[in-house]
Amino acid sequence: MNIAVIGTGYVGLVSGTCFSEMGNKVTCVDIDSSKIEKLHKGIIPIYEPGLEAMVLKNVKNKNLYFTTDFKTAIENAEIVFIAVGTPMGDDGSADLQYVVSVAKSIGETMQESIVVVDKSTVPIGTADKVRITIQEQLNKRGVTINFDVVSNPEFLKEGAAINDFMKPDRVVIGADNNYAVEKMKQLYAPFSMSHDRFIAMDIRSAEMTKYAANAMLATKISFMNEVANICEKVGADANQVRIGIGSDSRIGYNFIYPGCGYGGSCFPKDVKALKKIASEYDYDAKLISSVEEVNDAQKLVIANKIIKRFGENLTGNTFGIWGLAFKPGTDDMREAPAIYVVKELVKRGAKIQAYDPKAMYEAEACYLKNIENITYVDSKYKALENADAMVLLTEWKEFRSPDFDEIKKMLNTTVIFDGRNQYNMFNLAEKGFEYYQIGK
Ligand SMILES: NC(=O)c1ccc[n+]([C@@H]2O[C@H](COP(=O)([O-])OP(=O)(O)OC[C@H]3O[C@@H](n4cnc5c(N)ncnc54)[C@H](O)[C@@H]3O)[C@@H](O)[C@H]2O)c1
Repeated sequence: MNIAVIGTGYVGLVSGTCFSEMGNKVTCVDIDSSKIEKLHKGIIPIYEPGLEAMVLKNVKNKNLYFTTDFKTAIENAEIVFIAVGTPMGDDGSADLQYVVSVAKSIGETMQESIVVVDKSTVPIGTADKVRITIQEQLNKRGVTINFDVVSNPEFLKEGAAINDFMKPDRVVIGADNNYAVEKMKQLYAPFSMSHDRFIAMDIRSAEMTKYAANAMLATKISFMNEVANICEKVGADANQVRIGIGSDSRIGYNFIYPGCGYGGSCFPKDVKALKKIASEYDYDAKLISSVEEVNDAQKLVIANKIIKRFGENLTGNTFGIWGLAFKPGTDDMREAPAIYVVKELVKRGAKIQAYDPKAMYEAEACYLKNIENITYVDSKYKALENADAMVLLTEWKEFRSPDFDEIKKMLNTTVIFDGRNQYNMFNLAEKGFEYYQIGK
């Protein structure tokens, strides 16, 4: 099939590349010319394991193209994906300006019947908005061209995006006619050869499914963080409680690891957007609001432990930070807990020595830009040189089983703050460390 993917970010680039891997002819479009230039040179603008090799292979095979020219991209396309950002607006709702602008461009340029697919995470009712916007442009041009609008929310996880896309748990399609469902089934058939993972439903339910999924996962995280905070107060150990409850198959072990809160490009904005959607329909989403409140506070739990240990004024203190990305396997720093922890410490006069395997450029160029007192170093142990404590914020594999003798050698003191409860099995007290974690 000929496919156009509009928006070449985490979702657009991964989706487009994976569709091309299955033999489709895919053109990825972006308005960011520097991104497209990089891709033309074989440089992948984001870090995602396995992505680079797959992009280069499919460009070489002439299955994958990149352009800033919208018209060329949709000229022969049978299916056009909208995969642009839907960032948090000022009032907490999803900002639809990029989606609407793409819909307008589609209406202005399309020549043949197409299926337009909303892959961006969008509020309920957006497919109607996209349909109306396209139709308005066709009316202006005085032409009659059939088109369908379909919702196909994306569930990939950054850091495992290729695997998630190639072997999805499910493919959700919201559509209002059989032709569109069948077209999408054909496109996705190669991704579910062993058993059918295709779930067709009405459009609004598909749009809602994405928000419900993210809100459920965020709820599990906030729930466990709240339990961990209570554990600490009552003298229980959140690590043991986690194992105790996770063993119940109705609860499960996933997403109940106590930590310094969820971040990233999806959970924070999608939880907020769902709360806003509910309020627009006169429903007060109390649970969703609490999930967000718990998470906002959780991002500062480690910073508060540091302040309790070293004092309100941290002038003269240096902290070695391990991990800046919002989770391992990505360079994405959107809403990462590290942003909040670092800012809180620096505000109190602390110096930071930071190391992350992939996110240091993002941190320096954008999310921690213009913050003085941060030095970025190229190895985890260098970040601890003459520091007063080590602070773990992202559970990258290379941090999982460090050389604690080396850590001791580098640090001024022997204090470890573990924002991801990675080291509770290492008996750090016996090794002579002062060890702080979440929920104990
Ligand atoms: N990142 C994830 O893990 C993830 C997972 C599931 C769903 N989503 C959803 O997918 C959508 C995209 O997320 P993302 O993380 O890929 O965003 P992103 O910011 O990485 O990428 C969006 C891209 O769209 C481009 N763009 C904006 N307007 C455009 C236009 N008019 N024409 C062409 N390109 C345009 C931007 O330049 C940018 O490169 C969002 O709605 C997000 O909530 C993201």
